[in-house]
Amino acid sequence: MEGPGAATGRRLLVLGAGPAQLGLLGAAREQGLFVIALDRDPTAPGFRYADRRAIISTEDEHGIERLASAEGVEGIIAPGIDWPVGIAARVAERLGLPHPIDAAVANRAVSKQKQREALAEAKVPQPSWHMVSGPEKGLPVPSVVKAPDRQGQKGLTLVPAEEELPAAIARAIEESRSGVAIIEEVVDGPEVTVNAFSLRGEFHPLTVTDRLTAEPPAFGVALAHVWSSEAGGNAAEVAEAAVRALGIENGPSYTQLRIGPDGPQVIEVAARLGGGHDAELAKLALGVDLNALALQSALGEPIWSAALQPTPEVGGAIVRFLVPPEGVLEEVGGVEEARAVEGVQDVRIYREPGHVFGPFRRGADRAGAVLATGESRDQALERSAEAARLIRFKVGAESLAQKA
Ligand SMILES: Nc1ncnc2c1ncn2[C@@H]1O[C@H](COP(=O)(O)OP(=O)(O)OP(=O)(O)O)[C@@H](O)[C@H]1O
Ligand SMILES: [Mg+2]
Repeated sequence: MEGPGAATGRRLLVLGAGPAQLGLLGAAREQGLFVIALDRDPTAPGFRYADRRAIISTEDEHGIERLASAEGVEGIIAPGIDWPVGIAARVAERLGLPHPIDAAVANRAVSKQKQREALAEAKVPQPSWHMVSGPEKGLPVPSVVKAPDRQGQKGLTLVPAEEELPAAIARAIEESRSGVAIIEEVVDGPEVTVNAFSLRGEFHPLTVTDRLTAEPPAFGVALAHVWSSEAGGNAAEVAEAAVRALGIENGPSYTQLRIGPDGPQVIEVAARLGGGHDAELAKLALGVDLNALALQSALGEPIWSAALQPTPEVGGAIVRFLVPPEGVLEEVGGVEEARAVEGVQDVRIYREPGHVFGPFRRGADRAGAVLATGESRDQALERSAEAARLIRFKVGAESLAQKA
């Protein structure tokens, strides 16, 4: 049977060509779409799948609108990063292009503050939160301080003690677009991600994965997404309530939750595919082609719910991210050996020689990923660990002198 697919030859604009867009760009190329990709980084790894590339920032709304018009695109998609989801929705609205969510819904989804307000109104479980525009007396600790309109751990700090609050708040405000910070109660417990697709108002949960994260100073950075989830419980139900509260009725969603003592609490919802190869993981685990579905929804093509029917094909699946040493990348070794490990489905290396790896702090500092499957979750974990051990990032020490 043919899988879902967007019609060949249609012109699609993809916002971003970084690691988070690799899967969707590869799927678009495979389906024979005419892909125009943009990114401000000329070395972005996803450009290799594009028919046309534009060196434009994913945040340059005017530039993006001009490009979309000039290229006569039939669809526009921001598959892997939050802020551009709002841009894609607004540009689509202005140019009369299809888009799974309208601009009002997208604007809500790309603001951690607006999300928290909508979740509160709908009584969806979430940590207590408070907006601040500077240091205040009597704020609770431990807490998590964030910039409300950033992602990728920019401006994000876990604050264990009161004396560390002012610096964390200043950092978040500096990173934020709106000059405010959000301070949240810490939800203590394992973390899961619900990858789902909504179709005409119906929420279809797909993979629920355990998000294994790094410790401070890389607080919150995902090191692996593991299926099936051990911690999940009723996370999919809470994710559904959250997605509905934001008004997302069509297209992909990615919901982060932590399972606290009273059950799942929503950390954040994104109205897009997951940025950590989550769609590819869903295909390996359940046979559901989320990349293809996202392409169809971006182009306004009809989607049948049969395409969302999960049929588990393996017992376990994982995306394990690669943590590099610090320094200037000279060479990556062992990739072929890693690919040859049984169950390894893909190895992605994000950076070219010459790239400078700084201290490991954020998602953007990750160097690549291994996708693996197994008969069980544990087997997938083991196989991906073995593959990761084989991959060696050779770096030069002179980088440290260069950076200093
Ligand atoms: N209130 C909280 N309680 C406990 N952990 C939290 C809280 N808020 C954030 N975290 C941790 O930090 C991670 C990132 O949080 P969040 O999604 O809000 O920031 P982000 O900058 O959007 O990061 P990402 O791009 O990885 O989603 C979460 O996945 C979680 O591990
Ligand atoms: Mg987030």
